[in-house]
Amino acid sequence: MPFIIAIDGPAASGKGTIARALAAHFGFHHLDTGLLYRATGAKGGDPVLAAQTLTAGDLARPDLRSAGAGQAASRVATIPEVRAALVEFQRRFALQEPGAVLDGRDIGTVICPDAAVKLYVTASDQIRAVRRAAELGAHVGDMLGELQERDRRDSERATAPLKPAADAVVLDTTELTIPDAIARAIAQVDRAR
Ligand code: C5P
Repeated sequence: MPFIIAIDGPAASGKGTIARALAAHFGFHHLDTGLLYRATGAKGGDPVLAAQTLTAGDLARPDLRSAGAGQAASRVATIPEVRAALVEFQRRFALQEPGAVLDGRDIGTVICPDAAVKLYVTASDQIRAVRRAAELGAHVGDMLGELQERDRRDSERATAPLKPAADAVVLDTTELTIPDAIARAIAQVDRAR
C-alpha cells in the first residue's frame, strides 16, 4: 500500500511549502491540487468541460499563480460537477508507490479520507497576507481582502468545503519559521510510519 499524506488548509498557510518539503524528504510524489482548479478557471468557457478536458499543458500556463487566477479557481471550485471531474485523477495520483503528498482543501475529508497522515496547516490572516504579498510583489491590504474572500467562499460552499478532517493534526505556522514548520510535519509523518 502506498503511503498517502493529505495536507489541507487556507491560502498561503504554508501547506504548499510543507507538502513539497515532505515529498522531497520521503521521496514521495507531490500534487498541488489547487493547480487543477486554477487551470480549470483559467481555461475559460464552460468550467465543467474545462475540468473534464484538462491537459498537462493547461497546468503549465504561466499566469496560474496570480491572485486573479486564485479567485477564478475558487469560483469554479464551488461547482459540484467540476469537483467530480477532478476526483479520479487525484485519487489515482495518490496511489503511486512509494507514496504521495497531496495538498489542497478537501484531501483529508473527500479525496483521500484514508490517508495515513492528515495535516491541517493554518496561520493568522495577517501573516498569510504578508507572505502572499511578498510572493506576488503586491500590497498586504489587497492580499488580505483577497485571501479572506477566497477563504470565505471555500469554507461556505456546500460541496467539499474547507475544514479540518476530524482526525487531522492542526499545524499553526503563524509563529514558526519554515524549517521549524517542516520539522514538525516530518515528525508527524515519522510517528505514523
Ligand atoms: O491552493 P490554491 O490557492 O492554489 O487553490 C486555489 C483555489 O482552488 C482555492 O481557493 C479553492 O477554491 C480551490 N481548491 C479546492 N480544492 C482543492 C484545492 C484547491 O477547492 N483541493
